[in-house]
Amino acid sequence: MSKAKGSKAKGSMMKKTVLITGANAGLGLETARQFGANGWGTVILACRNEERANKAKASLVAAGTKTTYEVQLVDVADLASVDALAKRLRGRQLDAVVLNAGGIPGPGPDGRPKKTETGVGYPFAVNVLGHAALVGRLLRHGVLADDGRVVFSSSEAARGIPAMKAAPHDLRELVKRHGTRAETIASVARLAHLASQKKMDDMTEYATVKLIGSLWIGALGRRVGPKQRVLAVSPGATRGTEAASEMPAAMKFMMAVMMPTVMRWAGMSHALEVGAARYVEAVEHPERFDQGAFYASPGTKVTGDLVRQEHAVLNDRALQEAAYDALVSLTEGAARVADAAIAAE
Ligand SMILES: NC(=O)c1ccc[n+]([C@@H]2O[C@H](COP(=O)([O-])OP(=O)(O)OC[C@H]3O[C@@H](n4cnc5c(N)ncnc54)[C@H](OP(=O)(O)O)[C@@H]3O)[C@@H](O)[C@H]2O)c1
Repeated sequence: MSKAKGSKAKGSMMKKTVLITGANAGLGLETARQFGANGWGTVILACRNEERANKAKASLVAAGTKTTYEVQLVDVADLASVDALAKRLRGRQLDAVVLNAGGIPGPGPDGRPKKTETGVGYPFAVNVLGHAALVGRLLRHGVLADDGRVVFSSSEAARGIPAMKAAPHDLRELVKRHGTRAETIASVARLAHLASQKKMDDMTEYATVKLIGSLWIGALGRRVGPKQRVLAVSPGATRGTEAASEMPAAMKFMMAVMMPTVMRWAGMSHALEVGAARYVEAVEHPERFDQGAFYASPGTKVTGDLVRQEHAVLNDRALQEAAYDALVSLTEGAARVADAAIAAE
């Protein structure tokens, strides 16, 4: 009897489709591998580089599961590219989306912080902006299944890691200088809050960007269907990824040298399989997670079980709504989920 049940479960999994951004390396690639091993029918690798995507696909196909791996090209920092992907997906159904692409992009060739053509800082564009535009479109066009799941890759840094001296800006303090909450968040996205500072602190900006992404998920949780589930999940301090490749020198040292050695032995980092399994758990077991919440390691740790984060800023409803409003404005409406704009499209 258990065998029949098992094959039935596996059979229904074969109809399921998940899309993962940044799936050609690190956590994204390992997540794709785990979904394949768990019997998902189609895994869409949403990547910006065709050669790297095809190489990743070949390595996944070689595992010999029945899963279909499909490459879709997208640069999540480019809203036109995200728009094009959303158009190509129209008429299809996604059971899950893992918003994994991102990291800490280093400065531009002139040593100054990089910005997109529309003036948004790269850390924000890569981690949050394009993802919000993509999810807005997928929801408005009915591409996300009625019981679909969205997992945003957040970070322990979003709630601060004292041991690594990593913490986000105090958004409530910034509000006092930058106008409304939504204006403040848009200023952070455009790096306008740095105007008076000579240098950008990459870790502070990264932590702030992941915090804003997690706040956006909080607001999104109030806008999705009753069976849909959206979550922000930190993969935890994960070694074995390519995250250091674009980072500034000091952070590269931390990721490439400290993480696999000192941090590993001090229990301050975990293996790639463990980090990716956090996303997979959030997708496959939504009943274990609260709608719109942010899950990361317990207390001030960066590994261990996933627990709901109760940080006051993260649960500030006004800031969550401001993050959503700022994203709607920065994406010229693409991130909007449910209002009159739907009918107008
Ligand atoms: N590793 C950790 O300890 C850790 C901890 C907390 C959170 N995270 C988060 O986990 C996610 C994955 O990181 P990772 O450590 O696995 O890093 P990784 O090995 O460098 O992988 C990042 C992936 O994102 C893709 N990507 C970057 N910018 C993109 C863009 N504009 N458009 C499309 N794809 C893009 C990369 O593609 P290319 O190969 O083309 O560059 C790559 O596939 C990130 O969001 C990161 O912030 C990681």
